[in-house]
Amino acid sequence: MIVDKLGRRFRNLRVSLTAACNYACTYCVPDGKRLLKARNELPATDLLNAVVLLQQATGINKVRITGGEPLVAPRFDDFLLGVMDLELSDVSLTTNGQLLLKKKDVIAESGLKRINISLDTLNPLRFKQIARGGDLETVLSGIDSMLDLGLRIKINMVPLRTQNLSEILPMLDFCLERGIELRFIELMRMGHLLHSSSFSTDFVSMETLLEVIGEQYEFTRTNAPYDSTAVRFHIPDKGVFGVIANESEPFCRSCTRLRLSSDGYLYGCLSSINKHYIGDLLTSPPHLVLPGLQDILAKALGDKKLAFQGEVTVMKLIGG
Ligand code: 5AD
Repeated sequence: MIVDKLGRRFRNLRVSLTAACNYACTYCVPDGKRLLKARNELPATDLLNAVVLLQQATGINKVRITGGEPLVAPRFDDFLLGVMDLELSDVSLTTNGQLLLKKKDVIAESGLKRINISLDTLNPLRFKQIARGGDLETVLSGIDSMLDLGLRIKINMVPLRTQNLSEILPMLDFCLERGIELRFIELMRMGHLLHSSSFSTDFVSMETLLEVIGEQYEFTRTNAPYDSTAVRFHIPDKGVFGVIANESEPFCRSCTRLRLSSDGYLYGCLSSINKHYIGDLLTSPPHLVLPGLQDILAKALGDKKLAFQGEVTVMKLIGG
């Protein structure tokens, strides 16, 4: 088992199925940039093979499917069905929800139980301004279709001071009414935000969020698992919400995440520029594969930081 000095090891794998996305959210994509898939994206069989090998090499037992936007990837159906057949304790999916109606059947067939849907606003105009792609109605129908299937849903909202601060309570009400757990993600200094003044202009802290919510609801903080990124709160008789308090309460010291990009690179840390290619290893002679992976995993674990400093890496390449 590969463990570092802080006792951190890889337990959760996030697999990005493509770097392409049908949105261009202001905090993810700089103005004027086009959203392209990565070159040399691997087929579903290779990505599935990588999951199996990473499970053997490090005991990973949770997988999250991400992107880019995973539902635009041609490999989505095969990967989802394949990964649900593996011996994993948990599989989940992060999506912007735009294509959920189209993918309802394959999601039902796969037996997926949990889904995280990114949604920053319930106002159609503001939606266009933030996401710069897709439309709100379609996402809302997609959410309904997942509720119909009985999936457990979390909604991810990135609060932005200049854009959706007034929607914290409406979003929370929307979620509480539907038994959905809302998760506020503190803005992270990723990609163009690392060197942009819009990070400090738009950043909303957990403290501010809780003040806004406290105007309407009483809530108590609940315990979260050791390697959870979210701080969770319980509103009696109503439900729960969470905050991914990346800045206010960083969770780097207990991070167990490993990321695999659609073009075959492992990333040990979002706050590190380092990446490690495993595409060629997947086709190496079997007796070389696991030792080779162990070497790379030790390097990737060594990339983990003690605190999040931000990085130019964009979320769209390697997911949240
Ligand atoms: N800061 C915080 N959250 C972000 N996401 C994308 N970029 C950032 C950022 N810079 C979120 C998306 C999505 C999740 C995968 O990550 O909104 O919900």
